[in-house]
Amino acid sequence: MATLPSDPAADPIEVLTESDCVAPITNLFVPGDTSSAIVVGDVRRVLARIPSGVFQTCVTSPPYWSLRDYGLDGQIGLEASINDYLDALVTAFGEVRRVLRNDGTLWLNIGDSYTSGGRKWRAPDKKNPGRAMDTRPKTPDGLKPKDLIGVPWRLAFKLQEAGWYLRTEIIWNKPNAQPESVADRPTRSHEYVFLLSKSERYYYDIDAVRGPNDRRQRTVWDIKTQVTPGETNFAVFPTALVEPCILSATHPTDFVLDPFFGTGTTGVVARELDRRFFGIELHPEYVEIAKRRLACSDSG
Ligand SMILES: C[S@@+](CC[C@H](N)C(=O)[O-])C[C@H]1O[C@@H](n2cnc3c(N)ncnc32)[C@H](O)[C@@H]1O
Repeated sequence: MATLPSDPAADPIEVLTESDCVAPITNLFVPGDTSSAIVVGDVRRVLARIPSGVFQTCVTSPPYWSLRDYGLDGQIGLEASINDYLDALVTAFGEVRRVLRNDGTLWLNIGDSYTSGGRKWRAPDKKNPGRAMDTRPKTPDGLKPKDLIGVPWRLAFKLQEAGWYLRTEIIWNKPNAQPESVADRPTRSHEYVFLLSKSERYYYDIDAVRGPNDRRQRTVWDIKTQVTPGETNFAVFPTALVEPCILSATHPTDFVLDPFFGTGTTGVVARELDRRFFGIELHPEYVEIAKRRLACSDSG
């Protein structure tokens, strides 16, 4: 276990490995503890060590299906079938549901993808090195080459079946979306954020986030994609996407979970908003980036 050297005035951030978590992690959840933590490990194994009902909200973006190979055993996203992928996520989010407070919420960012159209590999992409892959999954049963898979809604319906309340979809519109080479459909420029709750009634502060002319927030959010300054990482969600989720779903000092922490965007925003965070990430290199970002979270 190591404590991150950060702003000395700020609350401590513990950096743990899975082997630190062979026993249940309880020290972070005693009343009065003000630490945040990052655990390097597998979401399912780490969450299993956490007591029930401790987080107020979860803001996260899981690996998308068949999009990129993070090169690690246990990674989610490279399952041979879409159903295996969805089952892995439903299992992980079942644990998320358990560790949320009864009035807690989940903000789940996810994008869609197409069947491979018969191609067996994806060419390297200079702007996005992680997109080069050795294999592509076969077209899922019931779909045809070139079909849009509908991954976000398939996942949303499975989570609903598993007990989650599906409260809304939010369209994240990206005004600076990358051009695409396909010429037989419009360029995709959006992803989804689903708001799900553990119970029928849950904490939600409608006044914490207001739009122009003080009107209540709408379900289409225009937010530019963002790259982490100085890093070549991909698939980072923008701080502006995370802010309204945390603001409307938590009080100051509440505990925010991100079980697919990546480069730590949820942690950066949680800190800036005086919330505690708990991040889980399989890839040690991303945790190093997250630690750097959190040591100077002003630059986001
Ligand atoms: C879409 S990225 C999240 C990016 C993050 N929102 C950010 O701002 O940097 C998904 C992350 O899930 C991680 N991941 C994949 N499988 C995992 C697993 N089994 N347990 C924990 N993390 C995993 C990947 O390494 C990747 O960093």
